[in-house]
Amino acid sequence: MSEPSPSLADRLDRPIVLVGLMGAGKSTVGRRLARRLGLPFVDSDAAIEDAAGLPAGEVFERFGEEDFRDGERRLVARLVEGPVQVIATGGGAFVNEQTRKLLKDRTITVWLDAPVDILADRTARRPDTRPMLKQGDRSTILGKLIQERRPSYAEADIRVPSTGGSHGDVVDAIIHALKDHLASP
Ligand code: S3P
Repeated sequence: MSEPSPSLADRLDRPIVLVGLMGAGKSTVGRRLARRLGLPFVDSDAAIEDAAGLPAGEVFERFGEEDFRDGERRLVARLVEGPVQVIATGGGAFVNEQTRKLLKDRTITVWLDAPVDILADRTARRPDTRPMLKQGDRSTILGKLIQERRPSYAEADIRVPSTGGSHGDVVDAIIHALKDHLASP
């Protein structure tokens, strides 16, 4: 079991935001990272669900991608105003230009970069919750989304590979990268 890192949290003046594709592990890793840092954790999809009274996937399906992104952008803007905390975003949030700009200006962004086979495996566990993956072969869709979205994700402050090791390893890698990031001028 790794040591908690509260002193790192004391040096943070802005939220840490996890971005990346569906299945990259943003929520699980984010929750564990928050625990290690002694910070609150919030998941933007869960916050959408609380606000709408419907699962985020259902909001996406019922109201369409454009309305979903608009609501997501406003929600993320509110979360960024909140305390220093760890925020897991939905996979498309950082692809939206306005949301990306806001997050780049106001937070430390961490891209969890996972290969298609891992994303396909993980998203297979709850297939009904992700409307974008219901429209065809999951691996093919995820592969296409990676190509489209990589340039946006690559604008994150920190890139951490998520290649099938344990979530604890990914949390360690993020903490290490955060220390480097804070130490750089
Ligand atoms: C989406 C990812 C989902 C959810 C919505 C759209 C996307 O979140 O926000 O279904 O565009 O990649 P997760 O990345 O948490 O699955």
